[in-house]
Amino acid sequence: MTSRTSRIKSPQQLLAESGADLEGHGLKRTMGLFQLVCFGVGAIVGTGIFVGLSDSVAEAGPAVVISYVLAAITCVFTAFSFAELGGAIPVSGSSYSFAYASLGERTAFLVGWCLLLEYGVSVSAVAVGWSQYLNELLDSLIGVQLPEALSAGPADGGVVNVPAVVVILLAATLLVRGVRESARATAAMAVLKIGILIVFCAIGFSAFRAGHLSPFAEHGVGGITAGASVAFFSYIGFDAITTAGEEVKNPRRNIPIAILVCIGLVTLLYCAVALSAIGALGADAVAGQPAALSLVVDQVTGSSVGGGIIAFGAVVAIASVVLAVMYGQTRILMSMSRDGLVPRVFERVSPKSATPVANTWIVAAVFAVPAAFASLDVVVNLTTIGTLAIMAVVNLAVMVLRRRNPELPRSFRVPLFPLSPILGIGFCLYLIWGTGWTTWLQFAGFLVVGTLVYAFYGRSRSRLVTAADGAGPVSPGV
Ligand code: ALA
Repeated sequence: MTSRTSRIKSPQQLLAESGADLEGHGLKRTMGLFQLVCFGVGAIVGTGIFVGLSDSVAEAGPAVVISYVLAAITCVFTAFSFAELGGAIPVSGSSYSFAYASLGERTAFLVGWCLLLEYGVSVSAVAVGWSQYLNELLDSLIGVQLPEALSAGPADGGVVNVPAVVVILLAATLLVRGVRESARATAAMAVLKIGILIVFCAIGFSAFRAGHLSPFAEHGVGGITAGASVAFFSYIGFDAITTAGEEVKNPRRNIPIAILVCIGLVTLLYCAVALSAIGALGADAVAGQPAALSLVVDQVTGSSVGGGIIAFGAVVAIASVVLAVMYGQTRILMSMSRDGLVPRVFERVSPKSATPVANTWIVAAVFAVPAAFASLDVVVNLTTIGTLAIMAVVNLAVMVLRRRNPELPRSFRVPLFPLSPILGIGFCLYLIWGTGWTTWLQFAGFLVVGTLVYAFYGRSRSRLVTAADGAGPVSPGV
């Protein structure tokens, strides 16, 4: 079942360990298709559209709509691969598990390591964004803002970002109560934020002037490409759906459908939001504005009430991203722990709540630290490059697994195989290229540290090899 030389774990072994086709395993199967789509939207729509839209408009002008479509195409090719793998191997580890089943343990560990960027570090960044919007909301509701010392990290002129820490602790509290409660909360927040963005579009389109869309591509192809790199951040998170593999009813059918529905839905939403914002005020008025959506609504309606409602929407939207992304991080660590690559405390599930309680609180405590002290944009580029690298690996994994395990039941198959995953890798590399050499160097350093952790910790504790030796799982002595 396992390959000793390259340490590949067979999909059958992954499924057997997770009980993917069974009921009654440690985690409960509580999420249906609707909840799963809400969970996906919860993980995707947040800081990227509420904060990042004005940055992508600054790069691309009205042609930002094309940037959003380009970023979506990158995601769609990869989403096909995620959908095929998520349907074939519906276990909690997402891209980490897919890499384990196709490219071997070392790559899987490094994918898990990069997931710390995509999930863990971005939780901190998104929490910092939440804190800013909370202050805006307080301002528009009661005319009071929290003192800067308590609402920003040192890099932004404050001391400690208390709201960012609070939102992480609140998310952890919900997550340890059980996925049913968390999924309900996420679903409610997802529906609310979609509703608020639709209301925004209606207000923006009511003041739409076609003249505001010209010149359409004022910064040329380069601007559109740069805009796509910025816009990519607003799509990060769709793969979180595959981290819920062990808590989804009928995962082979529901996971692929949910991923594709989510990408289609948010692309339509983002393009409509961008068009209505620019159509109402013009690209120059939107570009670079910190709270552009509130600004548009204030100006179109002539009152600050609308802007306050949008700020409320942003607070809700970003909180649900924190919740969904943190959930994903705990499930990935659970899978890695099950494999012996990280300490065993991460795989323990509380019999009472059927959730990984210790895991959740450790994740909350660790990522609350950068949330308290880091500035919003410090980690965004690293998050982006880490996510793109993972996506490239997932596209590769789908090709490897088709050759190695053609017999696996696949509820969804990548169309135009192998063109689609090859194009997926191409688009990922193209966007990685666009992040610039400073980010490449930082990322290379991050990978070197990950390789060392694997060499000196994970490799010797891996249960794949100890189990194959007949020694049974080792206790890493956490
Ligand atoms: N896509 C997520 C967001 O925009 C990370 O907040």
